[in-house]
Amino acid sequence: MNNILVIVYSYTGTSRRVAELLCSQQNWQLASVAEAHPRKGALGTLRCVVDSFFRLQPAIRYDGPPPGDFDAVVLVSPIWMLQLASPMRAFVARQRDRLPDVAVLSVMGGQGAPNAAAEVARVLGRAPILSSSVTMREVDDGSCAARLQAFGTAVREAEDSHDVARPVTLSPQSS
Ligand SMILES: Cc1cc2nc3c(=O)[nH]c(=O)nc-3n(C[C@H](O)[C@H](O)[C@H](O)COP(=O)(O)O)c2cc1C
Repeated sequence: MNNILVIVYSYTGTSRRVAELLCSQQNWQLASVAEAHPRKGALGTLRCVVDSFFRLQPAIRYDGPPPGDFDAVVLVSPIWMLQLASPMRAFVARQRDRLPDVAVLSVMGGQGAPNAAAEVARVLGRAPILSSSVTMREVDDGSCAARLQAFGTAVREAEDSHDVARPVTLSPQSS
């Protein structure tokens, strides 16, 4: 058994729906990243573009338990301009030394998820245990549910295989 926290940032609500579905499928706890100065309307969208262009890290608030209390966290975030949305960028940078194993789930129109996973790997200095994506359309028509279930199961299995490996690694018989 493992202990996994889902951490979501969502601008227009789609990533939050994905994160809530994943949590309800797996019985995992949900935490949120929000902006200190939430964006809105056309100006808000322009801020998304500017943040992405300059790779900015806006001021954020984190509402959830300490990520370090968990075996792994799943980061759920939209893609902006082919990149990780800037509030999640800010969260990863701020928490980099406190994050356990990380899985990345991107929510997007159709392109950019590999860049988000690569950025998380770069900031953390280690690869995510798993990364995947769903499109807005798959969320809207419900067709993402099965893939989300498979993703959750894969995260669980990746962590379970750690749990098995740790005692063996520590065992004097393995040396
Ligand atoms: C400023 C901006 C830029 C975006 N750029 C991309 C992009 O490069 N690739 C993509 O697939 N989707 C892009 N999208 C679409 C979002 O990733 C998609 O709508 C996502 O579902 C939004 O998640 P949210 O509702 O949780 O905010 C962009 C959306 C915004 C607002």
